[in-house]
Amino acid sequence: MSLQENTREQWGSKLGFILAAAGSAIGLGNIWKFPYVVGDNGGAAFILVYLICTAVIGIPVLMAEILIGRTTQRNPVGAFRQLSGSKFWSAVGGMGVVAGFVILSYYAVVAGWAVGYIYEAASGKFFEFGEPSNAGHHFNSLIEDVWWIVGYFSFFMILTMGVVFSGVQKGIERGSKIMMPILFVLLIILMVRGLTLPGAGEGIAFLLTPDWSHISGQSILIALGQAFFTLSMGMGAMLTYGSYMSKKDSIPIASIQIVILDTSIALMAGVAIFAAVFATGLLPNAGPGLIFHTLPVVFTKMPGGFLFSIIFFILLSIAALTSSISLLEVITAYFVDEKGWKRHKAVIVFGILTFILGIPSALSFNILADVKIFSLTFFDFADFIAANILLPLGGFFIAIFVAKVWGFDKAISELKHGTGKLFNKNPWLLTAWKIFIRYFAPVSIFFVLLHSTGILDMIFKALSK
Ligand code: PFF
Repeated sequence: MSLQENTREQWGSKLGFILAAAGSAIGLGNIWKFPYVVGDNGGAAFILVYLICTAVIGIPVLMAEILIGRTTQRNPVGAFRQLSGSKFWSAVGGMGVVAGFVILSYYAVVAGWAVGYIYEAASGKFFEFGEPSNAGHHFNSLIEDVWWIVGYFSFFMILTMGVVFSGVQKGIERGSKIMMPILFVLLIILMVRGLTLPGAGEGIAFLLTPDWSHISGQSILIALGQAFFTLSMGMGAMLTYGSYMSKKDSIPIASIQIVILDTSIALMAGVAIFAAVFATGLLPNAGPGLIFHTLPVVFTKMPGGFLFSIIFFILLSIAALTSSISLLEVITAYFVDEKGWKRHKAVIVFGILTFILGIPSALSFNILADVKIFSLTFFDFADFIAANILLPLGGFFIAIFVAKVWGFDKAISELKHGTGKLFNKNPWLLTAWKIFIRYFAPVSIFFVLLHSTGILDMIFKALSK
């Protein structure tokens, strides 16, 4: 065993791991994306489909990913190499590292908007808008300003680098232990505020009354794609966090806790946002602009809105930060484990490189707005490649790897560490996990991939002719 392996960091506690992993999962995906995707896809019926996807695909694949990390105590590339000895599978791990790099480069741009909006909220600007279209114009004028967008992007990258720079226990774990409770409290405050507004009931009805006419093959695939993104699955973030986990802790329990935390935060954000949107007579289907066009106006129409608007954007920034650190940690772990770099060097070099890679994404809203790659701006292209292709593909490979390459016998003997008598008392749990990993996950992810690449649309069109 090399010196490096002896000194590899570990989480200080079980709670530390849960909060860090939940912090990775809970992010812009929960508070920005989930509400608008639900709003665009008809509310309750979509939520039900999403819950089924998270339970049936999310939990089993998340368990598999954390398991690969904990077994090998390595970064994604080293982990796959150690278990398979093959170049192909090391490259699958490499794909995760690249995905982390790409996601962080544009994720931090949006996170920068959230930080910038703390200032916008505090300056009282929202009270000048009157209606969402004006808020929308203001938002567009901000993101068209190169200095504004690049400025907040770089500020957010520095925050991310600062946390990862300080190490697994002293940076990521300590940061998560401070930020996650704050996030919970802020969200509860916002939810209570939303629910106590007169007329909030309509928003809740929207979230609770299923309208099945909105559910199509397409929305099922969107739900599954969202499940991957929100659980940070398929690119080695959970694998890397799992690699700092002790064998004394139970992976099934941890995975379920992470999924429950992630899902309840998304639902709470949905409740807070829809209660307020409906109570103020605005529409829930503003798409990605829901948070930056509709919400600022929502805040001006509610008592205490000034304070709540500031709280909301602080919440969004914290959620983004606990996710972005997990993205940078994947790249850092790779260079520390595989190339023998010092953590500090890896964080500085790759923090700066990620910033450089993110610049075209930041400029996609202004100078480079007309530059298109396959008719997408650089920002949309990066998001598409990473979230719609690389993550599901990573999840697909993780499932195939466990079922076919590593093998269930070895995987299960590792999975049993830390679970006490759980599987002796409930052997069906292992059978269910095997079935989900062997069949459900790869098949459904395969369809998501066909959908994301447009191949499924082509097939539907051909069939309906
Ligand atoms: N799960 C994060 C969110 O919902 O915002 C996004 C994310 C973080 C995706 C880390 C992937 C990842 F590795």
